[in-house]
Amino acid sequence: METFITTDPVKAAEFIRQGRLTAFPTETVYGLGANAFDDDAVLRIFAAKGRPADNPLIVHVVSLEQINEIVAELSDHARLFIERFFPGPLTVVAVSSGKVARAATAGLDTVAFRMPAGRIAQELIKAAGVPLVAPSANVSGKPSPTTWQAVLEDMDGKIDCLLQGEPTEIGLESTVVDCTGDVPILLRAGAVSLDELRTVVPETLDGTGMLSSAPRSPGMKHRHYSPAAAVRFYKDNKSVEAGRRSAFIGLERPEDNFEKLMIAGSMEEYARELFEFFRECDRIGIDVIYCQPVSTDGIGAALMDRIKRAAE
Ligand code: TXA
Ligand code: MG
Repeated sequence: METFITTDPVKAAEFIRQGRLTAFPTETVYGLGANAFDDDAVLRIFAAKGRPADNPLIVHVVSLEQINEIVAELSDHARLFIERFFPGPLTVVAVSSGKVARAATAGLDTVAFRMPAGRIAQELIKAAGVPLVAPSANVSGKPSPTTWQAVLEDMDGKIDCLLQGEPTEIGLESTVVDCTGDVPILLRAGAVSLDELRTVVPETLDGTGMLSSAPRSPGMKHRHYSPAAAVRFYKDNKSVEAGRRSAFIGLERPEDNFEKLMIAGSMEEYARELFEFFRECDRIGIDVIYCQPVSTDGIGAALMDRIKRAAE
């Protein structure tokens, strides 16, 4: 299959309406979209990514009407989060109406959805006329793509269309919060921090540490975000292995010498650059990537989470 490349959301939407796949930029990472109501199209996403069938997808919407169509009901907490954070990098889990394709929810009776903030993503969903399910547009297990070039690296010839845009603004996947119970539970850290969720619903629990025992967010048990290079935290210069090709990413210049170096000016920039840095290190054959640990304030929690997963 030849992958059609365009900057026009209306052209890309034609593929969606024909039951085919298009990758597109969001404010978090590039997604791989299909019509959320089309079973065959959704199954094609799992095939293109090599994604395990038990890992459900996020439905991307542009309106409250679309949300009401895919959920059976919204809890008060869900409504509050939607009011405060949509459109933006927050995914809400609610009880499903059963309308989205079965494969999309991996057989669960809940559905995850978000309203992306990016203009191109919104125009694509509007032109398609249906909500889009979209996992990150990478081969399963690789770091999420934050540039259209990274999408092509993984998906050229496996998907029908790529809607080109700028490098993504945030660079890490959305925060996921489960709103199906009495209190909201944070399932995946992202740019919307736990503290921010608690400004809206103070009882919100941190479920990110308890996922292996209670896999509410099935995706989090799968290996994620891993470059081919080994990933380590950078602690002090004793930890750097001699004789291996090494790279460093962090906020402060390290004492050791590295073949490749990225010093970010802020935690936001560190987050934005992390996945592309991983990919670039693989392209040039780096053996070990050292990442400077950061505080878990703001997006720091999500950043530390992604580095830890890559280091596992
Ligand atoms: O920022 C993002 O969320 C990006 C862009 C493209 O929107 N998408 C993304 O999708 O990261 P993906 O498929 O890589 O991650 C989806 C996450 C997984 O951890 C999955 O387990 C969780 O959302 N999820 C989906 N449906 C769920 C549900 N019903 N209950 C709990 N977790 C769910
Ligand atoms: Mg992903």
